[in-house]
Amino acid sequence: MVKIHGLVNQKGGVGKTTLAVNLAAVTHSVLVGSNSPLHTETQGPSPVLVVSTDPQASSVWWSGRVEERGGLPFDFAQISEPGQLRQLRSLEYAHIFVDTPGSLDDEKILRDALEQCDDVVVPMEPEPLCFIPTENTIKNVLVPMGIHYTVVVNNWDPRDGLPDLKETAEFISANGWPMADTVVRRYKLHTRASAEGIVVTQYPKNRTAAEAREDFFRLALELGYGGVPGQRAGSVHPVEA
Ligand SMILES: Nc1ncnc2c1ncn2[C@@H]1O[C@H](COP(=O)(O)OP(=O)(O)O)[C@@H](O)[C@H]1O
Ligand SMILES: [Mg+2]
Repeated sequence: MVKIHGLVNQKGGVGKTTLAVNLAAVTHSVLVGSNSPLHTETQGPSPVLVVSTDPQASSVWWSGRVEERGGLPFDFAQISEPGQLRQLRSLEYAHIFVDTPGSLDDEKILRDALEQCDDVVVPMEPEPLCFIPTENTIKNVLVPMGIHYTVVVNNWDPRDGLPDLKETAEFISANGWPMADTVVRRYKLHTRASAEGIVVTQYPKNRTAAEAREDFFRLALELGYGGVPGQRAGSVHPVEA
């Protein structure tokens, strides 16, 4: 059974696209065993799909850049029709990540997308400017639809210290929202990667890149995206012997 995950916050610039493509990248990496010494180049169909429903389509642009650099590790589709969204569940993927618009103008497409989601990740930045838009999204959109969601603090710069992060965690907890323990730290690498069109699993092999990548592996693990063996569609190691 496919699991459909929405990346949702009506505030722009909080990391919806960044989390969609990088959670997809690490989930793909785990599901196809691309870190395994047994991994071969002959891959089956990808078990992971990223769908952009954002009319501003930064992730389309991302995928465009990525084509020049040897491609994304997962499948990608741009969708604007509600009918296409309803077909997602019949597709042969283990995980589908749906990137949604970050503008109140696009609430119709957001709601159409949410109707297909099994769960939602709500990225937010650790800064007070982000509090009210996030609260509006959760209270006006997610809670009335009864969708399971997790708030993920993204773009925290450890050099700023704990005060903003603590204030944000307290705001989240005072509202009674579920919050991921994993905080996605700010790395210039992530910002640069979106301009260069690469995803975390394609970062260079150095310590900083490993740290930056680790946040996404931790988050995927915490959210349960590693999958169960039966879901390893497209696995290079067939589960049924
Ligand atoms: N953890 C992070 N570290 C560094 N830059 C980040 C991080 N998360 C997001 N960014 C950058 O912030 C900008 C907005 O992120 P994006 O994912 O496009 O937000 P949204 O899709 O919610 O509008 C992009 O330039 C992106 O590269
Ligand atoms: Mg975006």
